[in-house]
Amino acid sequence: MAIKMGVSFIRKTFIVANWKMNKMVKEAEDFCRDLLPQIEDCNHVDIAICPPFTSLGAVNDLLINSKVLLGGQDVSWEKQGAYTGEVSASMLNDVGCQYVLVGHSERREIIGETDEIVRLKLQRAIEAGLIPIFCVGEDLAARDNNRASDVIKKQLTAGLKNLEIISSSIVIAYEPIWAIGTGSNASPSDAQEMALFIRHELENIFDKDFAQNIIILYGGSVKEDNLADFLQEEDVDGALVGGASLEANSFAKLVRIGANGQ
Ligand code: 13P
Repeated sequence: MAIKMGVSFIRKTFIVANWKMNKMVKEAEDFCRDLLPQIEDCNHVDIAICPPFTSLGAVNDLLINSKVLLGGQDVSWEKQGAYTGEVSASMLNDVGCQYVLVGHSERREIIGETDEIVRLKLQRAIEAGLIPIFCVGEDLAARDNNRASDVIKKQLTAGLKNLEIISSSIVIAYEPIWAIGTGSNASPSDAQEMALFIRHELENIFDKDFAQNIIILYGGSVKEDNLADFLQEEDVDGALVGGASLEANSFAKLVRIGANGQ
């Protein structure tokens, strides 16, 4: 469903592109020029693109008068100072970001980010007025051993500890690691089951109103021919897309599916 009724507000479909470490500045600009005319009439969907840091400024210049919002792919947990290579939340604000990915499994697995680092990053992003897209997801071993929900519960509990937030100041993305970039997506019913589990956990950590109103995305091999099935699930409000977001025509199709609420 494109529009899902929570207790006190409507959960609008949200389609997010995560370009990961792809695209030179010129390619990023060409993408925006190709995309915008194709999605001009898509009103019933929220859209964001998360380019690499090097393209944020150029992409912001092209998106500034459009309905497409901008996100970073990572943020430092420190405010500013001697942290070579890091990018702060206010720097992301400064180049026009409204969102930032936090806790993506590639950062947890490859870079070694812990739950505590993820928590500090969430806190810093929220303090700076960015909306974090907080990624959680289990690996294949956990799924095979029926421990998927334990892993998600631990990531949620640790990441959200002591955060004072309202539901509109954070988005959750459920991205099972085994489905990322593999071409084998979770089934829509598996995604629904986990999104519902996440909503229940959020109700325990915060309250029912918070849990009903929060946007929960699914990510992992989302493409044109499976997105509509995910969006039909009651608790899946949108998608975080890697590979299929790299080409403007392909991403435009996903946005249009989101807008049509299929
Ligand atoms: P793919 O869509 O390429 O599987 O990537 C998903 C992802 O990691 C988005 O953050």
